Amino acid sequence: MTTALQLDNRHIVLGLTGGVACYKAAVLARALVKSGATVQVVMTEAAERFVTAVTMQALSGRPVYTSQWDAREANNMAHINLTRAADALVIAPASADFIAKLANGLSDELLSLLCLARPIGRCPLLVAPAMNREMWLHPATQRNIARIRADGAQVLGPADGDQACGESGDGRMLEASELCDEVVAALQPKPLRGRRVLVTAGPTFEAIDPVRGITNLSSGKMGFALARAAQEAGAEVTLVVGPVSLPTPRHVRRVDVASARQMHDVVLPLAAAHDVFVATAAVADWRPASYAQRKIKKDGSHSAPAIELAENPDILAAVARLPKPPFCVGFAAETDDLARNARAKLERKNVPLIVGNIGPATFGRDDNALLLVDARGERQVPAADKLTLARELVREIAARLEAQP
Ligand code: C5P
Repeated sequence: MTTALQLDNRHIVLGLTGGVACYKAAVLARALVKSGATVQVVMTEAAERFVTAVTMQALSGRPVYTSQWDAREANNMAHINLTRAADALVIAPASADFIAKLANGLSDELLSLLCLARPIGRCPLLVAPAMNREMWLHPATQRNIARIRADGAQVLGPADGDQACGESGDGRMLEASELCDEVVAALQPKPLRGRRVLVTAGPTFEAIDPVRGITNLSSGKMGFALARAAQEAGAEVTLVVGPVSLPTPRHVRRVDVASARQMHDVVLPLAAAHDVFVATAAVADWRPASYAQRKIKKDGSHSAPAIELAENPDILAAVARLPKPPFCVGFAAETDDLARNARAKLERKNVPLIVGNIGPATFGRDDNALLLVDARGERQVPAADKLTLARELVREIAARLEAQP
């Protein structure tokens, strides 16, 4: 199964202003196109000092606009025409000077003119600052940033790190892949705006001795996709994860744990302050009853050591038992009889929604198929990549939250 193109049928106007980070804008143009978007590049005169329109045309597959007086437009109104079909207007890099122009509504060349002329209600303006750290920290820049935010612009970054000038600090433009993710996120619906979502993901690791343990094949991918989808839907997201090495979705707070008991001890105090709890983690049901401080050695007797097991706390059931529980969603990874097993789990754990899936068919993979089971019935969500499924599940959760008294 191929992963859905994240920007299919989207049209992005990508504006470049003067700055070394223009080289990253070339990569961004490519990333946006690879994600399925059509990209119209607009460059200021200063931007053309850093990369050429030829490069940007080749990467975007469209002639670049650099002048308000471009005679290719029949009505000679490039500043109007270019934004009318746009789903988003992305300024990357945005120089300090250009941000100052945006803050004041100045519009003496094509790019600033089209920012002002865009349909403000349906074409979001995403601004990725790139400048020296002193310029970024200057009160004038900070004032201008606050002003463009108040006017509805979304400011992406900047990041902290090494700068082309040799200094280090805030002001680096985000990387192209990060910006591409930000564009994808900005275009998602926001049914979880103002909500707080807690997610568990991955396997747990139950130590036997300092070098061995009991774990399972959960990759964490579904939980990470859910955290990303919930964040994109406007929620504030905390992700509590067992040992996995997946990158943290943007703007998601991550807490790493190893064992089921550690996961329990992190989740329980947090849960009551959340609107939603989604337990995707494959929590080990049992742990070794005792932990050997030193590696257990073969003693030549050829008799294997017996490992006694103790039951782990059920995190989901414990959260569902809280006096004011968040809306709880459990996962059921089964090998057979999905509907019956999922419904049994719904009742046993006393949660309003269980998401069933066939464990061996999904562990480690990028796709899955889900069966949503609640008190009213069942709904099959057909096979798709995990991010698509996560967005669907987020829609289902948001609808149930809305319907709550
Ligand atoms: O009981 P079982 O492991 O089959 O239930 C799976 C669901 O319960 C998943 O949502 C899983 O994250 C959650 N769970 C948990 N704590 C456990 C065991 C499972 O939160 N100890």
